[in-house]
Amino acid sequence: MDTPIAETALDLVPPGVERVPVTFEINGKTQQFKVEAWTTLLDLLREHCHLSGTKKGCDHGQCGACTAIVNGQRINTCLALAAVRDGAAITTIEGLADGDTLHPVQQAFIDHDAFQCGYCTPGQICSAVAMLDEGHVKTADDIREQMSGNLCRCGAYTNIVAAILDAADLSDQRSPTPGARP
Ligand code: FES
Ligand code: FES
Repeated sequence: MDTPIAETALDLVPPGVERVPVTFEINGKTQQFKVEAWTTLLDLLREHCHLSGTKKGCDHGQCGACTAIVNGQRINTCLALAAVRDGAAITTIEGLADGDTLHPVQQAFIDHDAFQCGYCTPGQICSAVAMLDEGHVKTADDIREQMSGNLCRCGAYTNIVAAILDAADLSDQRSPTPGARP
């Protein structure tokens, strides 16, 4: 059953500003909201849905920390207006696991220690999941190229690529990751 319409959590809008009704399927659950016209999908996820796994890094489309999967495509949610994306199906990092079973990309990131601080990690994983679904990745170089929109300040790129190769079952393309589980 659909959840009731939720008002904004940050009620800083001047009187008289109209909100836009929008409906999304978020991690398999249909939800309705009323948002300001300038509300981004990132702020909708974090402030309205309290799905804080999707991170705000630059808020300018430059780092990929805010990546989520929208209608099957990975996008920077900081650049997408909620009102424009009305009706979309959204998958965030919170929606990837199947109960207690992690998504293979999530598990591979753990197995390969593919993070340090972890701030970029939800965006990296969502981007990798959608990238693999796109079906164009054959080599480590493909991954480096197609993941180039997801920056990691900690420089965990070597292990990130190894994890994705593993999850994509392209492990013959990778160098062993130090400390990786067999
Ligand atoms: S927070 Fe969206 S790209 Fe950096
Ligand atoms: S693990 Fe720290 S930014 Fe990527």
